[in-house]
Amino acid sequence: MPVELINQHPQVDDSLLNHCRKTSLQIIRLCAIPLHHLNVVLTTDAAIAELNSHYRRKEGATNVLSFPFGDNEHTFLDSISPPILGDVVISFDRVVEEARHSGCTSEQRLDWLIVHGVLHLLGYDHERSEKDAKIMFDKEDELLSELKTNRRIVMPHLAVNVDHVATVRQARGIDEPDPVAAAAICELAGAKGIVVHLREDRRHIQDRDVRILRETVKTRLNLEMGAAKEIINFALEIKPDLVTLVPEKRQELTTEGGLDVVSQKKKLAKSIAKMDKGSIPVSLFIDPDSSQIKAAKEIGATFVELHTGRYADAENEALQFEEFEMIRTSVEEAHLLGLRVNAGHGLNYVNTAAIAALDPIEELSIGHAIISRAVFSGLDLAVRDMCAIVENTTYY
Ligand code: PXP
Repeated sequence: MPVELINQHPQVDDSLLNHCRKTSLQIIRLCAIPLHHLNVVLTTDAAIAELNSHYRRKEGATNVLSFPFGDNEHTFLDSISPPILGDVVISFDRVVEEARHSGCTSEQRLDWLIVHGVLHLLGYDHERSEKDAKIMFDKEDELLSELKTNRRIVMPHLAVNVDHVATVRQARGIDEPDPVAAAAICELAGAKGIVVHLREDRRHIQDRDVRILRETVKTRLNLEMGAAKEIINFALEIKPDLVTLVPEKRQELTTEGGLDVVSQKKKLAKSIAKMDKGSIPVSLFIDPDSSQIKAAKEIGATFVELHTGRYADAENEALQFEEFEMIRTSVEEAHLLGLRVNAGHGLNYVNTAAIAALDPIEELSIGHAIISRAVFSGLDLAVRDMCAIVENTTYY
């Protein structure tokens, strides 16, 4: 987990913790720090005073202390993956007090202290000399002004999966409803992408659909597919804007789990290389799992699409929160490795907002919930309502 927040202060709530996480991730990105683990501890005056006395032989509370990893007897642990940058310990009592004195918000004061603490971890030191102080304070100003203008890395957008329109058509074996017409309505209603899954058994989307969609889609066409030779050749001919590789089993009702990239590196790397020759970026649909993310990066994927199915299907709030945390940390890890991040499966009008809020998720691929609602309220309204949820993300 790139950023671990440890809250030891009774007044620090979830919204402040989210703010700290966001700031920490932004700083890691702005400083171009390669994948590292950073601990941020929010504590009390009493606790920080103890640390100050024990490690710095100074009496009383201070606002922030930095403990770079590798600075002590634990250097042998530097080889652990991901390596640890260190700990930034902040007294939230000082934050409140200093915010009141300087007329700013607690969030603004926290930003400054996190920036200050991380810069110390990176070797900046304002106590070393006047010259060093200027270098550190200039860097602080630069990062703080970037933070102000740069709160979210990427704005998320909705891509509608129109497979289920084709499922209704295939049930009758006639030519309506047409997923091509559905795609046009989705785009007019604000969707920024269209997704179709061309299955080997052609149970819903047909070759004809993809060919016409390639001509008519005005936004971006994301072609989901298994890594089978015949479908790969079809994709190379059609040239979608993105290919999302998914596992495909003939008996399944829908895609059941993420790709096991770790055990199929060779095969998937080959597929990615072929797409690369056709200038088609590839996304791998994977479970939110660190080893799968690393494997996706190793074999040259441009995107990962994180499988949100277990989060969507969780039987109670506690399980859903666990799944959400896995998705959240996976988004961070993938981003820090340089992968772009999409997400999807099982998302609906209730559970999408929290996922859309995870920066820097780019595309949410949603099908069943939208087409189901469209049966009652019409496709235009169903897409508009989901666009509002995806795009009005203020949480992060
Ligand atoms: N992403 C992938 C890779 C999928 O296979 C699917 C289902 O086709 C979706 C997203 C959309 O899932 P849902 O229909 O549950 O919204």
